[in-house]
Amino acid sequence: MKLSLIIPTYNEKENIQELIRKIQKEFDENKIDGEIIIVDDNSQDGTGNILEELKKKQNNIKVIHRNGKLGLSSAVLEGWKIADGEVLGVMDADLSHPPEKIKELFLTIEKGEADFTIGSRYVLGGKIKGWNFKRKLMSKTATLLARVYTKVKDPMTGFFMIKKDCIKNKEINPKGFKILLELIIKADYKKIKEIPITFVNRVEGKSKAGTKEIFDYLQNLVGYLPHKKNVIGEFFKFVIVGGIGTIINILILYLLTEKAGIYYLISAIISFIVAMTSNFVLNKVWTFKENIKFNARKKYLQFCLVSVLALLVNLFFLYFFTEIFGIYYIVSQILAIGIALFINFLGNKIWTFSK
Ligand code: GDD
Ligand code: MN
Repeated sequence: MKLSLIIPTYNEKENIQELIRKIQKEFDENKIDGEIIIVDDNSQDGTGNILEELKKKQNNIKVIHRNGKLGLSSAVLEGWKIADGEVLGVMDADLSHPPEKIKELFLTIEKGEADFTIGSRYVLGGKIKGWNFKRKLMSKTATLLARVYTKVKDPMTGFFMIKKDCIKNKEINPKGFKILLELIIKADYKKIKEIPITFVNRVEGKSKAGTKEIFDYLQNLVGYLPHKKNVIGEFFKFVIVGGIGTIINILILYLLTEKAGIYYLISAIISFIVAMTSNFVLNKVWTFKENIKFNARKKYLQFCLVSVLALLVNLFFLYFFTEIFGIYYIVSQILAIGIALFINFLGNKIWTFSK
């Protein structure tokens, strides 16, 4: 099999030569039939000229020059258009991704063990070096949100390979940086494998990720909903389960208070617990289709914690809308229940029932 490795560049003159030297070494040593396709967006620092020089001396290099900074994802797609390989790969130019791992990502596909391989920072053995707290937190949050769509641990990484067949006739066009998540959602693959890597923050040059990329990402996330009809289905089931829970809650409150003569506040606590437990069971086996016994105790605890969090969110917004905006409290409560429901669903989807 042949590998086409795409490297998007924007102002990477300090890094690109060193990276290409290392990649060629990996290709040679491991007898990988590989080509390197660099897509440069009219870098202002002279990267384009360096690339032309490199291309003259090495015949497995292709270079695409675009007119201006048109974005990382579109650069990758542009590169794939002229790729000859059956396997398509992507890697950053700033030496953040370890070239020594090209072998493992590629050979895993060549040997037929997977058709999609990911250089992952969030599986056992993976690491990130040199990021500050803010960058780590942003990456973790983005990764957590992506769990609505995938169980892949690092769907945000910029280092991966996929068989070309898997994206045949697929419309792939994410805004911004996060092309991998889009492939995970839309491509046709049988087996995906995450391979641990150590990501080292760039030493030279600056990151091109900024606020715009964050908004692009959020916009992408919402846009994926129609592709994941099961998520919408799960949400509706979750709402129905919540409705059943409310009926159970009120019924038991009534029975315990009226028929068993228990003090109504005590009845309320008992009926709340019963309703929460029935919600848990129904959501586990029906909404999220899990075996009831699988990790039951731990998940029950997680489910209860999310429920309590949702209750706090509910109270907060009830107070906020009523006191700060002066909205009639019943209307506030309807709005607050909506928000809490959303948090409740999201929390259980990406935490309790994520594996
Ligand atoms: N052609 C082109 N056009 N290349 C670009 C553009 C662009 O508009 N923007 C960025 N690049 C290139 C950079 O030159 C670099 O080779 C690569 O894309 C990644 O850009 P960085 O600026 O180094 O991104 P980062 O380190 O903040 O983000 C990386 O890590 C993230 C994981 O947390 C990227 O790999 C992201 O894809 C990844 O999600
Ligand atoms: Mn980088």
